[in-house]
Formats: sequence, structure tokens, C-alpha cells
Amino acid sequence: MINTGKQAQLAQLKDSNAQLLKRLTARESRLNRIGMGIDAASQEAFEAFADGINGIAQGVEKTLRNERDAEAEKLTNEATAARRSSTHTSSDTAIADIMQDVKGCIEEQYLAAEKNLQVLASILGFFVDVDAVLAGCISVKDTQIFIRRSILAELSAFDCIFAAYNKIPNGSQIAVQTAHSRNGVPRDYVEDHYTQRTTKGGLLISEACIIHDEAHGMDHAPGIYTDEQISKWKTIVDAVHARGGLFFNQIIALGRVADPNFLDAQLKGPSNDVYRDREVKEMSVDDIHRFVQHFKQAAVNAMHGASFDGVEIHGANGYLIDQFIQKQTNKRTDEYSAETLKLPKEILDAVVQAIGASKTGVRMSPFSAWQGMRGDYDPVDQFEPWVRHIVSTYKDLAYVHFVDPLAGSSQEDFRKSDYLKKIVRDAGITVVSNSDLTLEMANERASKYGEAVAFGKLFISNPDLPARARNGWPLNEDYDRTSFYGGTEKGYTDYPFYK
Ligand SMILES: Cc1cc2nc3c(=O)[nH]c(=O)nc-3n(C[C@H](O)[C@H](O)[C@H](O)COP(=O)(O)O)c2cc1C
Repeated sequence: MINTGKQAQLAQLKDSNAQLLKRLTARESRLNRIGMGIDAASQEAFEAFADGINGIAQGVEKTLRNERDAEAEKLTNEATAARRSSTHTSSDTAIADIMQDVKGCIEEQYLAAEKNLQVLASILGFFVDVDAVLAGCISVKDTQIFIRRSILAELSAFDCIFAAYNKIPNGSQIAVQTAHSRNGVPRDYVEDHYTQRTTKGGLLISEACIIHDEAHGMDHAPGIYTDEQISKWKTIVDAVHARGGLFFNQIIALGRVADPNFLDAQLKGPSNDVYRDREVKEMSVDDIHRFVQHFKQAAVNAMHGASFDGVEIHGANGYLIDQFIQKQTNKRTDEYSAETLKLPKEILDAVVQAIGASKTGVRMSPFSAWQGMRGDYDPVDQFEPWVRHIVSTYKDLAYVHFVDPLAGSSQEDFRKSDYLKKIVRDAGITVVSNSDLTLEMANERASKYGEAVAFGKLFISNPDLPARARNGWPLNEDYDRTSFYGGTEKGYTDYPFYK
């Protein structure tokens, strides 16, 4: 007597197994197409996973056979016993026992598959909702994020990453209520801001966090260097993780653009300078060595203290690292001159040594003139050596994040920007594009170049931006610039969801 329910289950499992394998194969070939083929270890893990899934179907088949044989045997025994004792044993009980065995056997197979899946996840380093995959609700593709050196192995329409950059307006808890407080601990509502924007498998990049007291100079900016800051960030990161999101921490030193009102140390930058009528003193080699250590320590704090998934080094927008890269601000003639790129190289190396290249992203803004940058220098001349150094030294880097030329910039700038990005892409490292992108432009970049895409302003005014993008729901483009840096939770946690 074959249990028809079990037969249906077997058919269903076989079907979902076949579909899963088909998706895995398609995924592999897409990965290869965009130059992110998987390595031998990952391949092995995939095979282990496929074996595990096959095991489920085989297990069910086996238990069905066992069920039939055991049932026949039991019924025979039951009949014999009944004849002998002239009492009747309920065959229902016998069947229930058999079913119990069958269930146990199936569970065993599920556990084996689950284990394989976890091995796969740990090797590839991506988040997998094992239950959901086994239940056939979502595919591995939907849950994967990191495939060793790349974020988002598959980049198709709107499979982009969404970055939630945002300054915290009064977002730091101010322990001592003076205008000079730099406690740098995010307020409680910061957690709401990020969790509102968390999607399963989506990546958030935090607002820039100051790496040390002497790297400060920005009102209300959060830090990642005191115990209190780190532990507050951990609660925020945990909340993002609990919703299945991924979270990178951006780390920053201000250098010459620091506001002395929020800096306890002397105002310093790459070179002796005057910026915003403030005298900037050239950093000594000892200063530089200390700052390299601050970056390294901040990365360790972010990863091991606050449990972030990775760190983005802020090398953009006229802050310290950018100042050292560009001749416009780095007039040094020693070993730390702009030509040597020694400071950015040392910082990147220290961070990678501490947390691994696959957990490290780098941001740059070759075309930006903000905070007195760029000048008359050619962005390609200034940034190509930096880009080439990054991609040739750190094959496994998580990503390089470009701030694109502003909308309305010259075609020449956009062409040069694509030239720099291509160097990264050709090295098999993920490019993240950002700045003034519409969803259509983002989608085009993602499908044409396999880039990941980050959003700032639109993600502030649309906490559910990924859902709106996927479902074609209208966007709220009416962001209030006055509240960007402006005061309270307003403009930070109160933008509406579409549904
Ligand atoms: C309120 C606000 C805060 C920002 N904070 C940061 C930051 O901490 N670090 C950073 O690299 N960029 C920061 N940016 C710049 C954004 O990351 C992004 O480059 C810029 O907004 C352009 O992209 P968008 O057109 O998608 O907004 C910020 C932008 C805004 C509007």
C-alpha cells in the first residue's frame, strides 16, 4: 500500500530539486559571463549542496520503499499475531509507527542538506536563509550577497545595492551638553533610520564614522573609536542583521577640512595650507603613522566590536585620504607626496591586513570639486595610478565605490569616469556607482556593466526604495534638503513607506 501523500511529496521535492539545480547552473554561467566565476572551493561547496538536495529526494524514495516493505511485513506479523491471540491490533497504530519512521528519515535527509547549505554559505561567506531555501520559498540566488571578492554576484535588473548615507542631524548623543561635544554615540532613533531601510540581503553603508579624536572636526558626526560608540553601533548592526540586511561601516578622517570647533587637536592636513581662513599645518611622518593605525583600529572596532559586515574607507569628497591623493591639496615633496600615494596605500593595506580584502571597500570621487578639490588637474592623471594600485594589489576587494560626476557635468568627465570604472571591472572587482542616479540609469548601469548601484538622497526620502524599485511604485523625490543635516528625527525616520 503506497502512501499517495508521500508520492506527491516526492514528486514535489524532485521538481524543486531540479529547479534549484537549474538555477544554480544558470547562476554559475551568469557569474562566468560577468567574469566572476567561482573558484574550486566554491565549486566543491556547490556540488556538496547539490548532493545534499539530491539526498532529500533519494531519502524520500528510500523511505517510501522502506515504508512499503515495512508495512507489508508489519501487517503480516500483525495478522499472524492476531490469529495466534485472537485479538485485533489496530493497523492504524502500525501505520502511524511507520509514518513516524518515515518522518524521521526525511528529517535526517533535510538535516544533511541543511548542513551542506551551511558549509556552502560559510565558504562563500554569504547570508543564506537555510529554512527558506529548503522550503523552496526563495532560491540561493535571492539570498546570496558576497561571493568572495564581490558584492552581489548576480547583477540583473534592480539587483543593486542601496546605500543609506545620512548624516545624523543631532544624531550623536551629546553627553556633555555643549556645542563642542564630540561624544559621537548615535542616538536611539538612528536604529530606526537604518532598520527602516533594511532589506533581506541588501547592503547598507553607514554614514562616515570618525576614527579617532584627532581625526575629528565635524559636528554631530558619529565615531567608531570609544567603547560607548562601538557598543551603540553594535545594537544598530544587530537590528539590521536581525532583518537579514548587511551593513558596512564607512570610516573617515577629516584632515584640512576639519572645523576646529569640533577638534581637540591642531588642524592638520597633507601640507601647510590655509583653508576657509584657517591655518592648516602639515602632518609630520609620525602623525601619518598614527593616522594609519587609527584607520586600522577603527576597522577592527567596526568588525569585531560592532559586528559590521565590512568597512568602507572614505577616500572621497575632499577628506584626508582624498587630500593626500590629489596634487591640488598635497604639495609635499617627501615620501608622502601625491605621486607616491603612500598614505592611501598604507591605510588600505593596514585595513586589509586587519579585516581582509573581501570585507574592505574603497570610496573615491575623482571628479568632485567639493571642498576645494580637483583644481585644474586631470582626474584620470590623478586617480588612474590609485585605481590600478588597488585592483592589482587586492584582487578580493569587496568593491570600489565611485562618486560619479554630478548630473550636467561634461561628456568628457563621464567618459573618463567610465574609463576608471572599467579598470576596476576588468580586474573582476565590483564597481559601485553613485550620484544623481535615477532608477532607470541605475538599472541600465547594473544590466549593461554589471555594476552595483548606491543611492543617497532617494534612499533618505524613500525608506522602502528597494521595494519601490522592484514593484515600479512611484518614488518620493520630494526630499527636504533643509533637514539633511538639520536637527532632529525629522527628515530622518519619518519619510513614508509606499505601502
Ligand atoms: C544627508 C547626506 C549625508 C551624506 N553623508 C555622506 C557620508 O557620510 N559619506 C559619504 O561618503 N557620502 C555622504 N553623502 C554623499 C552621498 O553618499 C552621495 O554621494 C550623494 O548624496 C550623491 O548621491 P545621490 O544622488 O544618490 O544622493 C551624504 C549625502 C547626503 C545627502
